[in-house]
Amino acid sequence: MSWCAVPRRAVFCLLAAGLSFIPFQDTRAAEAISGFDFLSQQNQELQQDNFANPGYLWVEAGAARFAEDGCTDCHPQGSMRGVAVKFPRLDTATGLLENLETQINQCRTEQTKRKVYGYESQALLSLTTYISAQSAGLRWSLGSPAGSSGILPVALKTAMDRGEAYFRERRGQQNLSCAHCHEQNAGQRLRGEIISQGQINGYPAYRHVWGTLGSTHRLFAWCNEAVGAEPLMPGNQTWIELELYLRYRGQALKNESPAVRR
Ligand code: HEC
Ligand code: HEC
Repeated sequence: MSWCAVPRRAVFCLLAAGLSFIPFQDTRAAEAISGFDFLSQQNQELQQDNFANPGYLWVEAGAARFAEDGCTDCHPQGSMRGVAVKFPRLDTATGLLENLETQINQCRTEQTKRKVYGYESQALLSLTTYISAQSAGLRWSLGSPAGSSGILPVALKTAMDRGEAYFRERRGQQNLSCAHCHEQNAGQRLRGEIISQGQINGYPAYRHVWGTLGSTHRLFAWCNEAVGAEPLMPGNQTWIELELYLRYRGQALKNESPAVRR
């Protein structure tokens, strides 16, 4: 059976067919499709089974660390529903864009007076995943109470526009932008893999290709390496701007973290 013959993919196939000759200007106008819809049935079932999904090892470790690190002095266990889906946001004190990871590290240093965790450390990944999982099934609402209606404060909109510019900029030996693969060629095969829309609603996610769980920024590094571009440092402002753009572009999707991906 052809890939497009599966009923739940039909809409997507029409979209992908259109994409190959009409590069769309406004991705928010197109239907957002989660990476989940591109998974095999086996991986979909793995993701949805909270006992078998390997990502839940990080959720459990994160709950334990939340107590060990003294976060519970100020935030009760399990009190973070709705928090992950507010990020990235502007830190009004510094004017910098912060994501969930940098917010956690900020509480580490300013509130608990401890050292920052390395961006891709198990400690930071588990805290991030523990907090993200509490927003399971919620959509992103960014920047303002009206976030989901598409209205963003100017400073946030400016940062998001820079994120979109990065998404559309060609880079690397192959001279490809993120949009080349995840917009124009979404639904096409690349070395046996079907290219998805590049949504991040499942991250941090457990990826089989890594054999472990990783952050959105690890994924940006992976996709940069795929085109022969020098990745940036995880946690840098440019990638948080990119993250903001991707969250906004995919805000119709529900949070699936910790998702399972190929
Ligand atoms: C040469 C094509 C190509 C380019 C260019 C590319 N990617 Fe990817 N990307 C892939 C492939 C292949 C995968 C794995 C299959 C999938 O999920 O699409 C992937 C996966 C992803 C995913 C994971 C989706 C999920 O649900 O797990 C995201 C997010 C992503 N890419 C973002 C980006 C960003 C941001 C850029 C630009 C910095 C980029 N990609 C550039 C090919 C590409
Ligand atoms: C001494 C009290 C204190 C401790 C301990 C503390 N925090 Fe915080 N946390 C705060 C305050 C105050 C805020 C709100 C101000 C801000 O955004 O920095 C906050 C905000 C947050 C937010 C954003 C919440 C939201 O609704 O926007 C997260 C996530 C967070 N903390 C995680 C942690 C983690 C993880 C730890 C443990 C490493 C921790 N905090 C330890 C006081 C604390």
